[in-house]
Amino acid sequence: MAADGEERPGAEHWVPHGADLQELRRAAEGCRGCELWRDATQVVFSSGPDAAQMMLVGEQPGDREDLEGEPFVGPAGRVLDEALAAAGVAGDAVYRTNAVKHFRFERRGKRRIHEKPSVAHVTACHAWLEEEIALVRPTVIVALGATAARAVLGRSVRIGEVRGMVMESSDPSGTPTVVTAHPSSILRIREDADRRAALAHLVDVLRRAAELIR
Ligand code: URA
Ligand code: SF4
Repeated sequence: MAADGEERPGAEHWVPHGADLQELRRAAEGCRGCELWRDATQVVFSSGPDAAQMMLVGEQPGDREDLEGEPFVGPAGRVLDEALAAAGVAGDAVYRTNAVKHFRFERRGKRRIHEKPSVAHVTACHAWLEEEIALVRPTVIVALGATAARAVLGRSVRIGEVRGMVMESSDPSGTPTVVTAHPSSILRIREDADRRAALAHLVDVLRRAAELIR
């Protein structure tokens, strides 16, 4: 029982069994598996084809995504789209989702500042991701950043140590998974040359992921 007297058993309680992706999406609107639903505008579930061969997993929706109800429609999404194009991956062929489906933020005046989801949020939300992987059955998963990597691999990794390596997702599917830096972290790099190098790494990992499909 949580401090406010509400039970929060994690998302499991809300995940319908035997549902298709459309039903899953709808069910997520009612998820109360952790407290993040309370301050967010809406759940941000996923976008892309139901039978995509490549699944991209981010951290959580950002400010734009929270308002629009779709993942990767803000600045990080633009970096990602650019990287996919450079890697020769058709953007409309990939399935985009997040480790955590509600926006976590801190209010500063009128602004909403992104706050990293905790391990408890990632754990609470994992049942959605697991069901998405079971339904989409991607050939390859790309985990964007440490939070996504933790969600998909079920353990903490250092991005610098595992970047580009092919690992296995921790859910029963054991799907080949590659990890790379989060596009938002690339946006935060001030030095031009460093930012270009980080973007080149992202492109390289996406290209390697695409090779696993062929
Ligand atoms: N960052 C993410 O990790 N996911 C989004 O959907 C948007 C920004
Ligand atoms: Fe449910 Fe995930 Fe939203 Fe928490 S963040 S309420 S577990 S969908």
